[in-house]
Amino acid sequence: MKKNWFKKTLFSCAVIASMASTSAFAEQSLKMAYALAKDSHYGAAANAFEKSLAESTNGKFKIEHFANSALGGEREVIEGLQLGTVDAAVLSTGAILNFVPQAGVFDIPFLFRDLAHARKVLDGQIGQDMLKEFPKRGLVALAWGEQGFRHLTNNKHAVKEPADAKGLKIRTTENPVHLLAFKQLGILATPMAWPEVQTALQQGTIDGQENPTSVIVSAKLNQQQKFMSLTGHVYAPAVIIVSPSVYDSLSDDEKAKFVEAGKKAGQAMRDFVDNVEKSGVQTLKDAGMQVTEDVDRDAFAKIVKEVYPEYYKQFSKELIDSIENTK
Ligand code: PAF
Repeated sequence: MKKNWFKKTLFSCAVIASMASTSAFAEQSLKMAYALAKDSHYGAAANAFEKSLAESTNGKFKIEHFANSALGGEREVIEGLQLGTVDAAVLSTGAILNFVPQAGVFDIPFLFRDLAHARKVLDGQIGQDMLKEFPKRGLVALAWGEQGFRHLTNNKHAVKEPADAKGLKIRTTENPVHLLAFKQLGILATPMAWPEVQTALQQGTIDGQENPTSVIVSAKLNQQQKFMSLTGHVYAPAVIIVSPSVYDSLSDDEKAKFVEAGKKAGQAMRDFVDNVEKSGVQTLKDAGMQVTEDVDRDAFAKIVKEVYPEYYKQFSKELIDSIENTK
């Protein structure tokens, strides 16, 4: 009898010890916010972040997904990160420059030649130095991710030349760097938080919007928009951020693991974007969208370049030139 009791106790202790080693006692739940569905490039980033942290910390941190803007628009999420009511997020730079003004340099239209160019800059000295600007504004940026190049969609007509875009009422992000370029093109730019966009499109209060293929596919914008033009007018970086109230409470070893998880999240977004860039346009065509592929991008770029002196004032010509000259 005594022997049996001893065996049972020993067994229970072993079970508890093994549970402790795989999921650590002090499990901490982190609220992670993002604007799109769980099966989007944002969800891919959040999943990769979750997996990496689970593996590296023996399950100490659990990620709670708040997809589809469940915690509000990106501006509200950024404020939540600063206040510590949101723990982590995957964000576009749409609203970021209102908090970290220098980061707006990456939002300049027709700055990057292609995805490889953008990735080279963000992974290099310029991009890595920019991540260091975030803590000065109450945010900890772990790594860059991406959405792809933004394209124009609308419900009025096909857009091939800048003249076709003139007068269209287009929702933009709350981003002054984008706004300047759209105004120069004669577009009636209407800044609006993302959670309001689908209703505005349905009600016809705006003619269109602009976002990368990854977003257009994920948000099924083909249901509200007839025309898509491959303007590729601006690269859309994304960034994986944690709240300082979480980050500052971590040990140095855990901080390194969060950075590692952020990098894996960024890479997962890039892999997702690489795939959607191959198949997304066909998916949208199959869903009935009329896609203009032979957009006169040089003509769009020529008009936007007229406002570059404003960008030089804001971000310095030297910085913009060194981004452009990165090979
Ligand atoms: O257009 C935007 O606001 C952003 O690209 C989105 C869709 C919220 C993703 O971050």
